Amino acid sequence: MRPPRPRRIERPSRFERPLVLAGVILAIGIDVGWVRATAQDPSTLRESRGKQIYVSGTSPSGKSLVAYIGESSLEMPGKALACANCHGLDGQGKPEGGVNPSNLTWNALTKPYGVTHASGREHPPYTEQGLESAITRGLDPAGNNLQNTMPRYLMSSEDLGDLIAYLHVLGADRGPGISENTIAIGIATPTRGALADMGLAVKAVVTAFFDELNSQGGVYNRRLELKFVETDGTPAVTRVNVERLLKDEPVFAMTGVFIAGAEKEILALVAQQEVPLIGPFTLYPQTGPPLNRQVFYLFSGMDGQARALVDFAAKTPELESPAIVVYPRTQINTSVLGAITDQRKKDGLSAPHAYDYVDGRFDAAETMKQLRRAPRDAVFFLGTGEEALSLMREADKANWFPSVFLFSGSVGREIFGAPAGFNGKVFCAFPSSPVAQSADGIKELRALADKYRLPTQHVAAQMSAYSAAKILVEALKRAGKDLSREKLIQALEGLYEYRTGFTPAVTYGPNRRIGAMGAYVVTIDLKKKEFAPASGWISVN
Ligand code: HEC
Repeated sequence: MRPPRPRRIERPSRFERPLVLAGVILAIGIDVGWVRATAQDPSTLRESRGKQIYVSGTSPSGKSLVAYIGESSLEMPGKALACANCHGLDGQGKPEGGVNPSNLTWNALTKPYGVTHASGREHPPYTEQGLESAITRGLDPAGNNLQNTMPRYLMSSEDLGDLIAYLHVLGADRGPGISENTIAIGIATPTRGALADMGLAVKAVVTAFFDELNSQGGVYNRRLELKFVETDGTPAVTRVNVERLLKDEPVFAMTGVFIAGAEKEILALVAQQEVPLIGPFTLYPQTGPPLNRQVFYLFSGMDGQARALVDFAAKTPELESPAIVVYPRTQINTSVLGAITDQRKKDGLSAPHAYDYVDGRFDAAETMKQLRRAPRDAVFFLGTGEEALSLMREADKANWFPSVFLFSGSVGREIFGAPAGFNGKVFCAFPSSPVAQSADGIKELRALADKYRLPTQHVAAQMSAYSAAKILVEALKRAGKDLSREKLIQALEGLYEYRTGFTPAVTYGPNRRIGAMGAYVVTIDLKKKEFAPASGWISVN
């Protein structure tokens, strides 16, 4: 890892409180697929029954459908091994852990000159009979054995026929949320409650961004249509409304969701429904394992920030000292503690001590007593800004001024009230910073703001939402005219050091889901009541 190279940089005009709670859902849309199930034409009925088998591994006729897997031919219910689990809802194949399920779209299966796979396996084009052998016996049309990861299925000939009828049309089934000339995008923002202003600002900037894009022809002549969802600013409402959006509206992808507090539910939902989600705002990105392939985060969460802080301290001799982590006892903080411990180890430092307390019941005087038993000169504090402040006030009384390391999500302006003895001793990680903004980016956003009269508040939230939308559109362009969710995900995975104009460079990969992985460290100038840069970008790859 490169040491952070403090650069001469202009003092940021302002650090906004980071928008860990801010977000937008963009969902893109048409209705192929299940809609077809209502058609009366016998061939479409077969396809829709086949789709059920493909997607859920259950038989519409109610007959038995079982799968055999591996050398030992272990028998499993078909629903545990639905084709879509591996080959994807769009049939393009979802590569995972070195396994490459084949592309099952009809064009790919029936290429006139046959197919040569990356593994070297070659075979002539598939026919219906060929498919029966592949599905029931694991043989391709050349008689090659397919790998064992491809299960063998036992199902009625009626079900097999339906499944193959569906494979005929699988490639034309673009998936929900997309038509010849539209891509529908849903956004979930609070328009009431404490976050209403931020929600409205985000809604306005994303709307303007897509209006502008549409006025220039959209993406491959597809217009981007926004679908808005109200979140009311509470996790419960967010969950219910996002669920309803996905159920009622055809949704292709989403961007920038206010998922704070509802992370677990929303992330599980988009994984289950295979809805790509770009730039949800949360301090707790879930990067697995197992990897949630659908979700692409913009910024590091607490873990990444913690690593950047540790790294910063390790490279700054006067800050290198025994450390203690003080934290409210929650599962998430346990993982942050783990990240701090791991990063200190990587940087050749001793494991930190840890002191935990019941969430919401911080007792500064009691904590001080504990910390004074074995004074540590570096305190990583995972509680709120107010709690950090009360601890510093207690420490001040005892004339003890350790370095204090804080996180973007907890720090607000109250921190300027810290006792003077902590001047230059309080450090905070931020996942982005004004220094990451480019002149072009600012110019672009300013022009949009003028034209669409965007709100002048919550500019940082607007920038994040704007960046997420920009990343989505860049990936849509790279995915090509013949769009599918899988292609979008692969295009996102191919982004390397993409410049949004407002964030550190964004890179994703097959196993990387945080675009700007690292943080800036700032210190707090208590005299001027300002944040001042203490490091350049610290990457924590
Ligand atoms: C557990 C993952 C998994 C499931 C579930 C699965 N497949 Fe596969 N499938 C694979 C893999 C991996 C391959 C590639 C095997 C190889 O290259 O040897 C494959 C290959 C195939 C092939 C051969 C194409 C070619 O490249 O010659 C067909 C056809 C196929 N699958 C159809 C299906 C159908 C239909 C279902 C559902 C009834 C299904 N698969 C379920 C993993 C899976």
